Amino acid sequence: MVESDAELDLRDVIRAGHVSAIVGELKSGKEATVHLARGPEGLLVVKRYRPFTGRRVHTDPIYRQGQVFRDREARAFERRTRFGRRLAAETWIAAEFATLRRLGRARGLPVPRVLARVGACVVMEFIADEPGGEGPAPRLIDAPVQSSEARTLHAQIMLAVIGLFERHVVHADLSPYNVLLPAAALPPGGSESSPRRRPILIDFPQAVDPRKNLAARDLLAHDVAQITAFFRRLDPAVSDNDLAARLWRRFESGLI
Ligand SMILES: Nc1ncnc2c1ncn2[C@@H]1O[C@H](COP(=O)(O)OP(=O)(O)O)[C@@H](O)[C@H]1O
Ligand SMILES: [Mg+2]
Repeated sequence: MVESDAELDLRDVIRAGHVSAIVGELKSGKEATVHLARGPEGLLVVKRYRPFTGRRVHTDPIYRQGQVFRDREARAFERRTRFGRRLAAETWIAAEFATLRRLGRARGLPVPRVLARVGACVVMEFIADEPGGEGPAPRLIDAPVQSSEARTLHAQIMLAVIGLFERHVVHADLSPYNVLLPAAALPPGGSESSPRRRPILIDFPQAVDPRKNLAARDLLAHDVAQITAFFRRLDPAVSDNDLAARLWRRFESGLI
């Protein structure tokens, strides 16, 4: 039987030695399918992008500011030729991998550890519902969240936004759909007051660098507003205290 492009791509990931088998599909979206895979040390995720046909191509210029393309590539982008669309997908895959790798090096930031990129696929840590679990962590939008937890979870995510920004990364599509909410590992000597859950930020292909991208300021404000609005519905006392504006001032004055 002739294999589909997806099967061929996933075979490349296996051949490259990152995973031994694909065990299931976690989610299939418009631009990417997220597969669950078995790796040498446990479960992993393989996110496979397909050649872009729509949505993101139109917004490409906003997010791709500051990147240098050759003439032929720029023209193909504009005309949305087959080559152009493949190239567009290519830049998103490369951007997600590069951003996750950079953030991973910083250590301690709540993002999946990235292992490799093979063609259209990015291989990364599987965020399980609980440490060592086989089920995926729910997205913030789907997770049951008590109003009493809203402030803590909001603060944890704002800390993540600060940590990213200090490394010159603005997520640029942050929302309750791109935050996973696994149960936290109990720290040694952890008590009742230790956080029960640890939000993890995912989905980085559109992330921008404020040093290169003029839209970064608005994108940062939008990220903060999306998350804050979500938690404010649960607890009206939740506030971001103008976090985006304060971070931007620090950036402009060279402190970040
Ligand atoms: N590392 C991961 N661990 C567990 N689940 C994941 C992981 N990455 C993605 N997912 C699941 O797949 C879904 C889609 O992934 P995402 O990166 O947001 O891509 P997109 O929104 O472009 O389809 C997520 O909402 C989440 O449920
Ligand atoms: Mg997403």
